[in-house]
Amino acid sequence: MKKTRIGIAGIGFMGTTHFRIWRGLEDAEIGAICDVDPVKLAGDVSTVVGNIGGGDNSKPLDLSGVKAYSTASEMIADTSLEIIDICAPTPDHSSIAMAALEAKKHVFCEKPVCRSLRELDELSEAVKRGKSYFNVGMCIRAWPEYYHARTLYKDGKFGRIRSAFFRRLSPDITGNSWKNWFMDGELSGGALLDLHLHDTDFIRFMFGRPKAVTSFGVNSVRSRGGTDHIITNYHFDDCLIAAEGGWCANKKVPFEMSFQMIFERATVRFAGEGYQIYWEDGEVESPQVADKNLPTGWHRELSYFLNCVRDDVSPDKYQDFNEITDSFNIVMAEQESVDSGKTVEIKYRG
Ligand SMILES: NC(=O)c1ccc[n+]([C@@H]2O[C@H](COP(=O)([O-])OP(=O)(O)OC[C@H]3O[C@@H](n4cnc5c(N)ncnc54)[C@H](O)[C@@H]3O)[C@@H](O)[C@H]2O)c1
Repeated sequence: MKKTRIGIAGIGFMGTTHFRIWRGLEDAEIGAICDVDPVKLAGDVSTVVGNIGGGDNSKPLDLSGVKAYSTASEMIADTSLEIIDICAPTPDHSSIAMAALEAKKHVFCEKPVCRSLRELDELSEAVKRGKSYFNVGMCIRAWPEYYHARTLYKDGKFGRIRSAFFRRLSPDITGNSWKNWFMDGELSGGALLDLHLHDTDFIRFMFGRPKAVTSFGVNSVRSRGGTDHIITNYHFDDCLIAAEGGWCANKKVPFEMSFQMIFERATVRFAGEGYQIYWEDGEVESPQVADKNLPTGWHRELSYFLNCVRDDVSPDKYQDFNEITDSFNIVMAEQESVDSGKTVEIKYRG
């Protein structure tokens, strides 16, 4: 069977994560990589460090049969590639994505889709104009426990939402990224855009559009100029939805991602004790939702996108692009709320 050929832009934590996932998928072939760092281009990724499951990321890459380019534009010009997978730092996402769409490549772009509302508008136009498929790595949408809870909620099993709280707390990641770009707030958008966006986006995916946000944050604890810790109340009718995200803790503190959602008929938790549904009738369920071949949201989103490209089917199971633009709008409103100390009404595009 013909394999779909992929080119990966940026071979840091996320690029090496994707590299190993694509390598494990039967119908995928990594045709090329590109990176500005010649050491990584030669397969030496010993400097790469990450958060969840980052253990394997620094092992040397087997680059047999893989072309190496030093710029994304050279890689995009490679006519043998069908998918461009963007894992470069956030400020480069929109220019690489627009060039790849222009070249009629299918694009998988890591989150955040871009760095600013201006870039979001330009990219949205390019996605609408483009004839190829475009997905963003909002992996929590596809993360087994999160996706499962959302599915039961949408199927009406839990009844109405009363309150929900999401947390995403990372240890300090100073020094972990290429030229320490995460710690420059201008480049990364701080923990607010880089980390907390996942929960904002999942809230949008699960509960729809909040009207406004009230956020509290602290800046420049670890980064220069970024919001490093944030708590947001998302304004919905008849329920309390909040999320906390940050990367201020000591380097030795374990990474935490968790939620507790209280519905009419059940309390659903993903936390230290695992994934549990505490039904109001007294039953406690521990659904086994992870697939051993596709254990994380990263595996699931990439495998799904690959199958859609192979079968020429629109990749809309986990996302539609309007929702991705919504969550970017919401997170920018959260930044405005932190900066102004006021509640901010969200002006949605479209
Ligand atoms: N979905 C997730 O859970 C998740 C997790 C971590 C990071 N990310 C996102 O993935 C992206 C990359 O983050 P990371 O942790 O891998 O960063 P990183 O610093 O570990 O890696 C970035 C890599 O890109 C290379 N690079 C820099 N400029 C480039 C360019 N113009 N073209 C090609 N390569 C270039 C660097 O040399 C480096 O190898 C970010 O946007 C980040 O927000 C997503």
